[in-house]
Amino acid sequence: MYLGLDLGTSGIKAMLVDESFATVGVAHAALTVSRPHPGWSEQAPADWIAGAEAAIATLLREHPAAMARLQAIGLSGHMHGATLLDGADHVLRPCILWNDGRSGPQCAELTARADFHGIAGNLVMAGFTAPKLLWVAQNEPEIFARTAKVLLPKDYLRLWLTGEHVAEMSDAAGTLWLDVGKRDWSDALLAATGLTRAQMPRLVEGSEVSGHLRAELAERWGIPCVPVAGGGGDNAATACGMGVMTPGTGFLSLGTSGVLFAATEAYAPNTGDAVHTFCHAVPDTWHQMGVILSATDSMSWLSEITGKPVPELAGLVGAVTAPSPVLFLPYLSGERTPLNDPDATGAFLGLRRATGLADLAQAAMEGVAMAFADCVHALRKAGTPIEAAYAVGGGARSRAWLRIMASATGLTLLEPEDGDFGAAFGAAKLAAACATGDTSDRIFARPAIRAEVVPDPELAAAYAKKYEAHHAAYPRLRDLTALGA
Ligand code: XUL
Repeated sequence: MYLGLDLGTSGIKAMLVDESFATVGVAHAALTVSRPHPGWSEQAPADWIAGAEAAIATLLREHPAAMARLQAIGLSGHMHGATLLDGADHVLRPCILWNDGRSGPQCAELTARADFHGIAGNLVMAGFTAPKLLWVAQNEPEIFARTAKVLLPKDYLRLWLTGEHVAEMSDAAGTLWLDVGKRDWSDALLAATGLTRAQMPRLVEGSEVSGHLRAELAERWGIPCVPVAGGGGDNAATACGMGVMTPGTGFLSLGTSGVLFAATEAYAPNTGDAVHTFCHAVPDTWHQMGVILSATDSMSWLSEITGKPVPELAGLVGAVTAPSPVLFLPYLSGERTPLNDPDATGAFLGLRRATGLADLAQAAMEGVAMAFADCVHALRKAGTPIEAAYAVGGGARSRAWLRIMASATGLTLLEPEDGDFGAAFGAAKLAAACATGDTSDRIFARPAIRAEVVPDPELAAAYAKKYEAHHAAYPRLRDLTALGA
């Protein structure tokens, strides 16, 4: 039995699988995000532990015999968060999350201080960890001075589980302090942020043992002191769950944020278009991603302001045969790939008296699809061709959205057979890899495909025209927004 524990932004998920990776049990605990100022996004690390305790308690209650046979635990979690601990491992302030834009002003300053592009292989973007620490140094200097360790969110769960400060490569790459090609902390990049290696956790690969379950927890839960695998950032872990370990077929995740993910055999960054270049969760493998910040969140926003549930909005968009007359820019929380602009704003363009909610809902889906088309171009420019991708995440349940997505991006989208191939499943697979020492495709197998959604030639031609407008709209609106519009 293997346990995958995924710390998601909106909740913790614990997934218990057997040796053939069949699901034995799944438990959830909800989490909330606090937004004390516009653009801020924080969570209390104590809530993660409470959530993980609750989810594990559910599994222990519902599957006591299976839990007693546990062989290893794997971790996954939302990336880039800054969890600051003092010398006694007390949390110094709420964790600043991946979708927090406050450190925009610190990005240019950090970029000028060291070769982040060359060594970390990524642009200094507000969501990443390093600029958050510079923000803390400049705005909360007393907290910065007391910071003895900086942990990523899932690594704080690991500290609770094992008592050890350990990070793994895929998540560590998202800090901007990792030399991503060498898979080691960079003293130069740490120094540029006023930090040293002593404030960083020890590094392991995602498929390696990071520590063992503390005796106190093992006793309380009635399970052995099993090894805890390094695990992965939620995107690398999802890839492990889908068997996306080699170039070619990637995955497209339609969650709160959107991710287009491709595995690569070498370290080959493209910072120009804000492509994310990170280590994968198994040795000698890397990956690239385009990341957009408002994917299903665009529909959630439309739902909130119209008072209509998302399924009702999605239901308004029937079998799409032509583009919506309205153009939507999905930059509700700023944007990463390819704009790297935490201050980018969203827009509806082309409204008329006859415009209806169905037009807006379709436009929202199309705007997100165009943002994914931007990611396809950015990855291709990085030398990472991608023709097909597994479609995952809540938004992938909408066939209408997948048809729009395939035609706007040119990708063939693969719908996996029924099953749960998310980050918790990938974390369970990394647990199996650490327990068995096997990182082959026997563990990281690809799911069977239920359906392929291919681009529709007519719709694709119409979207190619709309994409030109999408592309031209942002720089003009940015200038207008700067004028106060
Ligand atoms: C990736 C990123 C998001 C979070 C969300 O760079 O910021 O995908 O990991 O969980």
